[in-house]
Parts: sequence; structure tokens; C-alpha cells
Amino acid sequence: MINTMLFEKYNIKNMELKNRIVMPPMCMYTADNQGYVNDWHMTHYTSRAIGQVGLIIVEATAVVPNGRISANDLGIWDDSHINGLSKLVNECQDKGTKMALQLAHAGRKCGVNEVETVAPSSFDFSDKYSVPKEITKDEIKNVINAFKEGARRADEAGFDAIEIHAAHGYLIHEFLSPIANKRNDEYGGSLENRTRFLKEIIYSIKEVWPKEKPIWIRVSADDYLEGGLEVKDIVDMINNIKEHIDMVHVSSGGIDIADINVYPGYQVKYSETIKEKCYIPTIAVGWITNYEQSEEIISNHRSDLVALGRELLRNPYWPIHEAMRKGIKISIPEQYERAIKL
Ligand SMILES: Cc1cc2nc3c(=O)[nH]c(=O)nc-3n(C[C@H](O)[C@H](O)[C@H](O)COP(=O)(O)O)c2cc1C
Repeated sequence: MINTMLFEKYNIKNMELKNRIVMPPMCMYTADNQGYVNDWHMTHYTSRAIGQVGLIIVEATAVVPNGRISANDLGIWDDSHINGLSKLVNECQDKGTKMALQLAHAGRKCGVNEVETVAPSSFDFSDKYSVPKEITKDEIKNVINAFKEGARRADEAGFDAIEIHAAHGYLIHEFLSPIANKRNDEYGGSLENRTRFLKEIIYSIKEVWPKEKPIWIRVSADDYLEGGLEVKDIVDMINNIKEHIDMVHVSSGGIDIADINVYPGYQVKYSETIKEKCYIPTIAVGWITNYEQSEEIISNHRSDLVALGRELLRNPYWPIHEAMRKGIKISIPEQYERAIKL
């Protein structure tokens, strides 16, 4: 049998993963327009749990109705959302998969009709979106509180971890990036000021989120635009908040239309830089599709975990397939055991 780190356990705070394979958050745009979990979500996520994914990060889940990307996003702005999420968490945990929730606010990329959209400054993303209102300081407090309430509900639903969505041009990234943040108050200007919103969200979540459970952020490490964020800014930003988070999930882009050179593993270099310069665990993501590529990333300490998005959409049983292909013994649900005894 070959030596493998990909299929080794990984511990972060009290969360033990059976392997280093992550399903990253992927919106299904399939909830009703009230944000509730339905049969699609149950089948979709439990299939990947049966497939032996170590950690599932449930799709962007809105902390307020005008923080949705679409009218069919999952929501966590009301206690009535807890029940469905809790069933989903139990089903997947029962198969040995740990469950994180991505808490999200879409900011100026909210695509829900007839709601007022907000952003740090009043510039639209494109003419497909409405021009957002510049969020006031009182409204900032309300959004911070909505993240805190979302975290409390996520804990009640039984989630093992929280990922704060600070990437892809949504509200928190809009505060971080000079491309979308033109404010003159303490939330705009310097990188420290632009990080304030994220910092206050983390602080308020930590008032309710259990200390033993991990919490991390997803970042866009490059805006790919003149005057936008570069990985060195993200490194400085993380170094400023890292004592309050346990990991960084490293993505890129999304603040505005940009020319992005995409190739296998194109974002791994950012994960590597952040790991090296911030001494913090990372998840690498972006066009990672096979065992060899994943093992190389983990074994060379370019990240601690690897996330496979579209590959897991194509093949929910990817971990089982790749383990079999490489002759690596893993346990799978007993109902399926005959499948690996050829
Ligand atoms: C259908 C779909 C929905 C997505 N939704 C989200 C999301 O909810 N939150 C997020 O941070 N990224 C989202 N992403 C980005 C993925 O998490 C991932 O970063 C991206 O697909 C690149 O990884 P891959 O090349 O392995 O697919 C989505 C991607 C896809 C394909």
C-alpha cells in the first residue's frame, strides 16, 4: 500500500476529519424562496457523505434575506431554518462526515428582486444588478448581529464548524477590497479599516460559537485587477486577525470582471503563500481533480486540506474511486462493502 497523506486523519480544534478531502460550498439555488432545506439538499449532501468526503462545507447560506445571491439560496435568518439544517447535518454526520456551514451575505451581488441591496459604497457590480445603497453604520451593526445569530443557529443545528464567506465579491470582500470600498469612515481607507467589518463579525460570532469548534474564513487572495487586492494584502489582513480564526480557505476573484488565467491548481500558490507567511492551516481549492494532484499539494505542505468542487459534482464517490485506484484501504458504509471486494 502506498503512503498517503490525503487519506490520513486531520484534527482542528475538536473536529477530527477522517481524511483531507473537502467538498467546498456550492450553491444549489434550489431552496424555496424562504431558504429552507429540501429533498434535493438531503440527497445531494448525503451522497457525498456516503462517498467518504471528510468535510462538507454547506453552500453559501444567507444571514439575512437581502444577503441572498438568488431567491433560492439556503437561509439561516430565522429559528425556523434550524430544523431542516439539523436533519441534514445529522444524516451526513451519521456517515462519518464533518459538517461546516458557509455563512454569507451577498452585498451588491444580491440577485433577489424587490429587496434593497446594500454594499460599502453605492456602485453596482454590473448592469445586471441594482445599484446598492451605501450601508449605514447602524445597518452594519444589524448585519454583524445577523452573522452572530446565524452562528448561534448553526450551532443549534449541530454544525461542527463555520466558514465565513469573505470571498468572491460578496459583502465582506466588498469591504476588504478597494475596488468596491470607497468609504471615508472607519470602515474604509486603510487595509486595517477595510478589515474592521470582518473583524467585528468574527468577534460577535465568537460570543456565541463554542470555543472548541473551529471557525475560519474563505478569502479571494487576488482581485486580478489594478488597484485591487493582491495576495500580499491578504497575508497582511490574515496576520491581523489570525489569532481569532483556525484556518483559511483560499480562493480568488469575484470582486469585478477580470481576466483570470485558469489552469489545474491555479489557486494553490496562494494557499502556499498564506500558509508560509501566516503560519495558519489552509484549504486549497480550484481545478483539483485527481489523487496525484491532491496528494502532491498536501504532502508538500502547500495546504492542509484540498477541496474539490465540480469534480465532486461529477462524482460523489470520488474518494472511494481514488482510494480503490491507488490500492488504499478505506472504510465505507457496510451496505456498499461488496463494491470494494472485487
Ligand atoms: C455550482 C457552484 C456553486 C458555487 N457556490 C459557491 C458558494 O456557495 N460559495 C463559495 O464560496 N463558492 C462557491 N462556488 C465556488 C466553489 O466553492 C469552488 O471554489 C470552485 O468551484 C472552484 O473549485 P473547483 O475547480 O474544484 O470546482 C461554487 C461553484 C460551483 C461550481
